[in-house]
Amino acid sequence: MIAEAAISLLVALNVVLIVLYLRLRRRSRRAKNAIRGQKIGWGKIPVRTIYDLFPQLERSELGPLATTEVRHIANDHTPGGVSDYESWILCNLAKRADTIFEFGTATGKTSYLLGANSPTKAIVHTITLGPTEHANYQHAAHDADGDLANAIDESVFDHFVYSDTPIAPKIAQLYGDSKTFSFEPYHDRMNLIFIDGSHARSYVESDSKNALAMLRAGGCLVWHDYRGPELTPGVYEAVNALADELPLAQIRGTSMVVYQKPPDA
Ligand SMILES: C[S@@+](CC[C@H](N)C(=O)[O-])C[C@H]1O[C@@H](n2cnc3c(N)ncnc32)[C@H](O)[C@@H]1O
Repeated sequence: MIAEAAISLLVALNVVLIVLYLRLRRRSRRAKNAIRGQKIGWGKIPVRTIYDLFPQLERSELGPLATTEVRHIANDHTPGGVSDYESWILCNLAKRADTIFEFGTATGKTSYLLGANSPTKAIVHTITLGPTEHANYQHAAHDADGDLANAIDESVFDHFVYSDTPIAPKIAQLYGDSKTFSFEPYHDRMNLIFIDGSHARSYVESDSKNALAMLRAGGCLVWHDYRGPELTPGVYEAVNALADELPLAQIRGTSMVVYQKPPDA
């Protein structure tokens, strides 16, 4: 009797260990893929350094110059946040942008930093699905269910990092579903746009279409979370499709892809 119980226990323990091992192996494979993509890209979109893409970001053999200094808040497990390196790049791009649009506010950390580093008169428009608007989310049949769950989980904030700070007057907080929101008033006005809303394919497609309509000649459009076919397939597929029409580049060491609209476009 005791022997049978011991055997059952051992079998159960083995099953648990095998499941744990398989999960760890899958996680480490995903992490390796993500790093590979950031360093050498996913094949379709060329990977370039920030210094190639943005000559205003100067560096010497000592590294980035003091001219690239920004106001910054670290990513310390910030929900939905960008990496510190990505944030430093966005803050530098904001220095030259007086009309900025962000898809996906979350905690408002990036909105705050875009406001803090942009010219005094700049306005940062940022749209988010509000905590009471979850029913407005437009899930498409081909979108991954996980993307729907993530989008809803992150749509819980109604108080932001910029709230009650001197930067608050520079932030135009917009609420709504980005697929049905009316973007016409912003057409041809933005010189920096950051797409970091729902990662479902149908949303990345829709947000990109709206962003391209809002982008001014000479402006810059940045997508976040281009992390390859396993981690963020919706972003990967939608951005790859756009690469057939637009000269896109992934920024080396980041999950960000950029499009720079020519000044004479
Ligand atoms: C990854 S987080 C954004 C992180 C933020 N940009 C930052 O850098 O800290 C995604 C955001 O997209 C928003 N979002 C998700 N689905 C949306 C939708 N359908 N319409 C508008 N915003 C949406 C979520 O509410 C969340 O604020």
